[in-house]
Amino acid sequence: GSLPVPNVQELAAVSEDVSARYIRPERELEQVANGEFGQIPVIDMSKLVGDDKEESARLHSACKEWGFFQVINHGVADEVITKMTENIQEFFSLPLQEKMEYAQLPTGMEGYGQAFVFSEQQTLDWGDMLFINATPINERRMRFWPKNPASFRETLDKYAAELEKAARRLMVSMARNLGVEPEKLLSLFDDGVQSLRMNYYPPCEQASKVTGIAPHADGTGLTLLTRLNQAQGLQVMKEGKWVPIDPLPGAFIVNIGDMLEIITNGEYKSIEHRALVNDKNERLSIASFHDPSMNIMVEPLPDLLIKDQKKQAPNYKSISHRDYKKISRQMKLDGKDRGF
Ligand code: SIN
Ligand code: FE2
Repeated sequence: GSLPVPNVQELAAVSEDVSARYIRPERELEQVANGEFGQIPVIDMSKLVGDDKEESARLHSACKEWGFFQVINHGVADEVITKMTENIQEFFSLPLQEKMEYAQLPTGMEGYGQAFVFSEQQTLDWGDMLFINATPINERRMRFWPKNPASFRETLDKYAAELEKAARRLMVSMARNLGVEPEKLLSLFDDGVQSLRMNYYPPCEQASKVTGIAPHADGTGLTLLTRLNQAQGLQVMKEGKWVPIDPLPGAFIVNIGDMLEIITNGEYKSIEHRALVNDKNERLSIASFHDPSMNIMVEPLPDLLIKDQKKQAPNYKSISHRDYKKISRQMKLDGKDRGF
C-alpha cells in the first residue's frame, strides 16, 4: 500500500537490469551461517495432540530458543494445500490488468500489490503479494478476494479455517507448557484477526543483492508459513547469523510474533527473519497471520506474572490492540521494524 511502486513481476519480465531501488549494499557484509541449512526444531503435532511429554518439551524449547519451528502431521489435508498452491499459481499468472482489479488502495495493505512502502528512498522488496483479511468473517472485504480462478474464494476460505484450527491447537500446547490454563490464551484469539499474505517472488538476475522480504520480526500473534514450491529462501536470525531454512515437504513453518512475545511476558521470542529470492526460479509462499481480537489488551498474561506465589513485574506495558496497531504503523512510517 501507501506509495505506488512498480509491479515486480512485470519488471522482471521486461528487463535484465535490476533497478537501484532494489539493491541492498549491506548484503555484501552479512554473516550467513556455515553449512547447507540450519535445523529449526521439527514438531510432530499428532504427538502434541496425544499430549506426549517429550514433544511438548521440544515445542517449549523451540518457542524459547528459536521462536521458529516446523510442524509436521499438522492435520491439514494435503488437498487443501495443493488446491491453494494451484489457485495462487494461477492467480499470479493472470495478465496484470486482471490482477489489478484487486489492487491495494493507497491507504491499506489488503489486495494485490506490495508490502508497506513508506518512503521514496526505501529499498524495495523483490516481490508482489496478494493480502486478504480472512477474519472477522463479517468484516471481509470481498472486493480483494479474486474471482479468478473460479475456486479461489472457496479455497482461501477453507485454507484460512484449517490453519486457524492448527494455530489454536498449537496454542493449547504452548499455554500448558507455560503453566497457563489453555482457555486463558485461546480466549484472546476468539474473534481474532487472521490474514493471508500470498507472496510471489519472480526470479532475479541479481538475487544475491536483493531481498524478497527485508529483515523483520512479525507483529502478529502466531504466523504459519507454507512454502508452495521448491525454491528456498527463508532465513532466520540466530546468534547474529542468518540461518537458511529448508522446510520439510508439506510442513508448516511456525513463528512467534511480537504480540505473543508480549503475551508470554517475553518467555517466547519473536525473531527476526527475511526471505531471499532465486536467480532462476520463481518463489511462492503463503503466510497465515493469527492475531488476537481487536478488543483485547496486548499485555502479559496475569497468570505469568505470579511466580512462587509472588507477583512479578511485567516486562512489557499494557496497550490496547488498537493502539498497538497504530504505533506499529507509525514505527513503520518512521522506517523502524518493531512496534513495541
Ligand atoms: C515472511 O513472511 O516473513 C517470509 C515469507 C517467505 O518465506 O516467503
Ligand atoms: Fe515474517
